[in-house]
Amino acid sequence: MAPQPWEGKVHIGSTSRDGGPFARLAEDVRRGLTRIPKELPPKYFYDTRGSELFEQICELPEYYLTRTERAVLARIAGEVVASVRPTTLVEFGSGSGRKTRVLLDAMARRELLDCYVPIDLNEDVLRQVAHTLSESYPGLRTHAVIGDFEQPIEILPTGGPRLVAFLGSTIGNLTHDGAIGFLRNVARLLAPEDRFLLGTDLVKDVRVLERAYNDAAGVTAAFNRNILSVINKHLDGHFEPNRFEHLAFYNKEDSRIEMHLVARQSHQVSIDAIDFTVEFARGESIRTEISCKYTRAMVEGMLAEAGLRLVRWDTDRDRLFALSLSTLLH
Ligand code: AVJ
Repeated sequence: MAPQPWEGKVHIGSTSRDGGPFARLAEDVRRGLTRIPKELPPKYFYDTRGSELFEQICELPEYYLTRTERAVLARIAGEVVASVRPTTLVEFGSGSGRKTRVLLDAMARRELLDCYVPIDLNEDVLRQVAHTLSESYPGLRTHAVIGDFEQPIEILPTGGPRLVAFLGSTIGNLTHDGAIGFLRNVARLLAPEDRFLLGTDLVKDVRVLERAYNDAAGVTAAFNRNILSVINKHLDGHFEPNRFEHLAFYNKEDSRIEMHLVARQSHQVSIDAIDFTVEFARGESIRTEISCKYTRAMVEGMLAEAGLRLVRWDTDRDRLFALSLSTLLH
């Protein structure tokens, strides 16, 4: 973490020394668009516009994930905090931090709350959240980390117990191997008294799943196309987002929603900053995101593979979404 000046009680650091989350965009775009089939890493959705669109997605009637998780979290936060007694909350992919408050409130109510460590890609969102939260919770030390949750973070504020959270089913963006790698990093960070809280979207009726990624208002389609605007902006690309159709479907075999952008006509696009031209056949797609859906057995299996043991499992009544609490196996 590159040290940066403290701003009051808010400290902003970074997991990468080399210029932030978009530093590898050029390489990732060249590699992803040269591959067959073409793909782009979903982390590049989240520039300022993309983060705004994602916030809108969370409010959509079709997108049950956020509100369902928040309701489960609200129900169990008191019990979890009472049993773990955390003084620090570490949160991967913290985003707007709205669900975070449920946990911070529960910690503050028991007079445990000392330190919050949000880790997110978007520096603007992170700064905003860090400052608003430090106003809401007087005395809170916030140590924000700009970074990629796939990049292991080495330093965590000492003092615990700590609750490490990864909410929103963001883990679903990772392949099985990616998820195991991430969970192993978490296991490496955990002390015996710490606990890991993971949010996972569950396997369910295909129609419910597909509706959540094909909303009537077209917000998800706009979010999907925004990745092309990010490339245009950062790499002098010449994508015309409207030449691509939004496609999202459930891949049952791999237990995941896939989002694609499908070329409406054959055409080519140049990306000036990387001196690269990419050809699209009509109907050819770029896979922009996978969003894995899990069963309890799958979650327990992944945790175990990474050296973690499930100690608590909670879902909503309809079993749409789950929160699991785990601890070091040994
Ligand atoms: C933030 C990765 C959990 O996969 O549901 C929402 C992102 N993509 N709509 C998800 C997303 C399309 C979201 N995650």
